[in-house]
Amino acid sequence: MMFVLMKVPLLDLRLQNLPMEAELLDAFRRVLTSGQFILGPEVEQFESAAAAVAGARFGIGMSSGTDAILVALMALGIGPGDEVICPSFTFFATAGCIARVGARPVFADSCPECFNLAPGGIEPLITGRTKAIIPVHLFGQAADMDPVLEIARRRGLAVIEDAAQAFGAAYRGRPVGSLGDFGTVSFFPTKNLGALGDAGLLVTNDEALAEKARLLRNHGASRRYFHSVVGGNFRLDALQAALLRVKLPRLAEYTAQRQRHFTEYNRALGGREGVIVVPATHPDRTHIANQYTLRVRHGRRDALRRFLQERGIASEIYYPVPLHAQECFRAFGPHPALPVAEALADEVVSLPVFPEMTSEERGAVLAAIMDFLESPA
Ligand SMILES: Cc1ncc(COP(=O)(O)O)c(C=O)c1O
Repeated sequence: MMFVLMKVPLLDLRLQNLPMEAELLDAFRRVLTSGQFILGPEVEQFESAAAAVAGARFGIGMSSGTDAILVALMALGIGPGDEVICPSFTFFATAGCIARVGARPVFADSCPECFNLAPGGIEPLITGRTKAIIPVHLFGQAADMDPVLEIARRRGLAVIEDAAQAFGAAYRGRPVGSLGDFGTVSFFPTKNLGALGDAGLLVTNDEALAEKARLLRNHGASRRYFHSVVGGNFRLDALQAALLRVKLPRLAEYTAQRQRHFTEYNRALGGREGVIVVPATHPDRTHIANQYTLRVRHGRRDALRRFLQERGIASEIYYPVPLHAQECFRAFGPHPALPVAEALADEVVSLPVFPEMTSEERGAVLAAIMDFLESPA
């Protein structure tokens, strides 16, 4: 079989950041000369610009997307004896934070086509101890929020949207993050808007919750050394805020480039469904294409990955073990079987979809997949 070997990484952050070197260095210099490294105007200006992207009144810069979830739970007063419902098929932090505040993560199953929390499975999991639901806008596409919000309203539960992977996505025309009580965002370097280190954001439309979260972010002290509640150090660095301010105006462009790759993949592979299943996109939800994730059926996922690797094409599995099967959550069980989450963990593979990928590189990924599909099983 003839093919041109073309190395395609999963992403290359240098391609994104180095063209802005002068601007990033200017931002660094600005913070260096200001002498203000903790909170202050850089953080505040980033917070309001970023909150606007999420359609929220208040934005609170956080040290990471994980800490944003943690502080949201703390601000809602969730703790020991409480239960919080979240999907099993997501990144660890969603459930890890529930456990860290002393509450019990209760795992729900996912939609096999769009990978998000399946709202139909939520209600049977609600008990007298349930306090909140954390839908995750996985891979960049909004979860089906209206049924989640309706259940939460009817049953008196809080909603924390884990929008770590979906900054700038919308659900029925409304930006995600501002639909529930809190929205949490990650600026981990691989996200559509990536910092040069760890960074996150908490958003809300509720002034009292925003005030509480701000307090918790800073050791529970509004005045230095006077602590009204027990918080922690969950602050966003002024330096990361300054660097993110350079990148924020380019977010729409990064997302559009990712979406172009996503659309081309779906167009080329959509007609070849069988062994592979392309990700479903809902017309009423923007998909910001943080990941392009295929299902590979008939036990051939790992063979596809090996095939791609031999061609120099990187891929990754987000996520190989559903959270209800993780050792660290065993003590919260027994967890019921979640057939979709379990199947997804066995079948998903994510392909390169980074903004700077060239059409030649994308073509090489597609050619390799086509060749794999024609190769004997
Ligand atoms: C769904 C989800 N939740 C939470 C997080 C945590 O964000 P961070 O890495 O910024 O702590 C991530 C990050 O990868 C994520 O993908």
